[in-house]
Amino acid sequence: MVPRCYDPGVIRRALLLVVAVLVCLALGIALAPAALRARADNPIWRGQRLAARHGCLNCHRAPLRQDLANPGSPFDVVPGFDSGDLALYAESKAEVEEWIRDGSTARLRADRATGGGGRTQLLRMPAFGGRLRDDEISDLAAFVIASNALHSPAAEPARLGEDVARRHCLSCHNVGGAGGLANPGSAFGYVPGLWGPDAGDLARDRAEIAEWVRTGTSRRVDAWPLARRLRAGQAVEMPAFGEVLSEEEQEAVVAYVEWLARTRGGVTP
Ligand code: HEC
Ligand code: HEC
Repeated sequence: MVPRCYDPGVIRRALLLVVAVLVCLALGIALAPAALRARADNPIWRGQRLAARHGCLNCHRAPLRQDLANPGSPFDVVPGFDSGDLALYAESKAEVEEWIRDGSTARLRADRATGGGGRTQLLRMPAFGGRLRDDEISDLAAFVIASNALHSPAAEPARLGEDVARRHCLSCHNVGGAGGLANPGSAFGYVPGLWGPDAGDLARDRAEIAEWVRTGTSRRVDAWPLARRLRAGQAVEMPAFGEVLSEEEQEAVVAYVEWLARTRGGVTP
């Protein structure tokens, strides 16, 4: 028998379909921004938020841009996360994780047991093993390693590019080029990282990265009216470095951006 349009079965099915479509739309609207944010998330960025939440920055990144004094310790200060001295304390990501978990490393305890140092210092690194999960410790270690630039490119031109980026780029694009620092009014609310999905959308290859650096934009992205509209509202804009950096420095910084992408922010060299 052929169902007719006023057949209750057909009407019920049509209603169900409408409800299903509405529910999907509502879920899509509610979840899309979070999904887009999660897409751009990475260990360095997560570690940075954890460091703020768990008090690490109180001791390791003094808001006064001056290291926190630690009388009696070997260096007289708590090592800042951006001090560049991490290599004196740890050789690998595993050792950085050990610091966070245990408040020191087995290697250092052995050294100090023979050398006698480290016993009278005012401030001690707390052991966070009981408070943090392993994945959180791993993210924190990624953040500490990127902040300290524990690993650097082995060769030019990327090595020069690292100096250029530290001076000109990372305040906006974050340590390790991890992105995520605030940009009110922009499409996602944050400055994109120099690697990862956002960067891949905005700069597809070496030539496009170089174009961003030189001109502060990309003709391909500009050609898209919605992108132009979204970008017009952002508080922080990508500067054009064409007149500011030499050709050599521009090439070097592009090579460094590629190195960051390969090493996920310098965490896995
Ligand atoms: C009470 C202050 C204090 C807090 C809070 C603190 N630390 Fe430390 N941390 C220290 C001190 C002091 C040292 C140096 C220890 C030494 O020389 O024995 C240190 C050393 C370290 C080191 C090795 C040295 C280096 O250059 O980084 C790491 C890694 C580290 N801390 C990570 C963290 C993380 C991650 C957190 C938060 C989960 C944290 N710390 C919270 C005081 C602190
Ligand atoms: C004042 C903050 C600021 C500084 C400094 C800055 N950028 Fe940007 N950059 C941005 C913003 C914001 C965007 C996103 C622009 C947009 O969507 O219009 C961006 C986009 C980019 C892009 C394309 C998207 C991506 O994430 O890959 C590249 C590549 C880039 N910047 C590289 C650099 C380099 C290299 C330097 C240093 C020479 C630098 N930027 C310095 C803010 C900055």
